Amino acid sequence: MRHAVVMAGGSGTRLWPLSRSGRPKQLLDVLSDSVGGVVASGDGPPHSLLAEAFARLETVLPADRIWVCTAARFGEQVRAALPRLRPDRLVLEPVARDTANAVGLAAALVADVDPDAELAVVSADHVIRPVERFAAALTTAYDAVTARPRSLVTLGIRPTAPATGFGYVQRGAPTGVPGVAEVTSFREKPDRATAEAYLASGEYLWNSGTFVWRASTVLQALAEHLPATAEGLARVVAVPAGPQRDAVLAEVFPALPKTSVDYALLEPAATEPGRVLVADLDVDWLDVGSWPALAQTLERVGEDAVAGLVVGLDSAGNIVFSDDPDHLVALVGVRDSVVVHTADVTMVCPVSDAERVKQLLAAVEERH
Ligand code: GDD
Ligand code: MG
Repeated sequence: MRHAVVMAGGSGTRLWPLSRSGRPKQLLDVLSDSVGGVVASGDGPPHSLLAEAFARLETVLPADRIWVCTAARFGEQVRAALPRLRPDRLVLEPVARDTANAVGLAAALVADVDPDAELAVVSADHVIRPVERFAAALTTAYDAVTARPRSLVTLGIRPTAPATGFGYVQRGAPTGVPGVAEVTSFREKPDRATAEAYLASGEYLWNSGTFVWRASTVLQALAEHLPATAEGLARVVAVPAGPQRDAVLAEVFPALPKTSVDYALLEPAATEPGRVLVADLDVDWLDVGSWPALAQTLERVGEDAVAGLVVGLDSAGNIVFSDDPDHLVALVGVRDSVVVHTADVTMVCPVSDAERVKQLLAAVEERH
């Protein structure tokens, strides 16, 4: 049967101070039609990126085959955000060990209840429009896995810029499934010069962070490329579900090698001809991972991207964000800056340094 899991355990540090360790971006109610609800790109009342990811999957699958994998400390917030999530479909990692281990854990638990499961893996930090085209591409990717059960399928987006924060998928020969091609190589987060060359070649797509594979296939691929994780997870599912399994998980999981599914699995697997496939995902797509990305969803006022009460005089190219509707942010002669006001933190940086917010947060944590 077809299942899906939402990866929802990231910490969203590049969106600090909006995103906090106790409340990361995927759990913030940033989506709504009104700018008052913060991001003007959703539908109806404010809701989270996670809720939208879940609802998107519900257009393809019944809710009881949608799983959510997150760090244990976010468990209560995830339950509250997703009333239709079945309690036994919530997978809680004792600590975050990045997506290779999260994907592996989810696959092991899904395979435990349905050994032949075809499992889609989606991110919780994307804005995707329209949902119908997403649903069609996901169905095509499931079909490719049905046709070629040993394959690892990624959904690919046509790149629009030499972004260094994404994975790049080199498209090769077509497969029998329309819209699906073999992948010749996979490169996670290349440097700027490489990304520019990839973009110019026209041969590469961005990895959308959405994958489909058989649960058993991804566990086999982990056994090949990340054996410590495969062995640890096998120990977990060797004991029956319940407190005993939770105890083994608590012992095993923190010791697993911290790495992402892109570095640990997709990069090496793509060197094997025909093992990795790519299905075209032709949608408006945004990874809301940094302030410049979030800015694309904000209202334009003059030449600034703005959320909240903001007055700018002779200002341009700024990203200005205030989460307090009664607090005015006023700028004069300010250019190309990110200005974020929250109740307890104000953060200012040049737009060109937006990627360094992660470093800034580390420095803040060291000093406080
Ligand atoms: N459960 C769990 N545990 N989820 C996690 C963990 C973890 O330890 N770490 C990250 N996630 C979740 C995030 O919440 C997000 O929904 C998803 O996994 C992807 O993690 P990111 O940290 O946002 O990855 P990225 O954006 O740097 O890169 C990935 O996505 C890009 C597209 O958005 C890669 O797959 C790239 O290749 C890809 O281009
Ligand atoms: Mg991301």
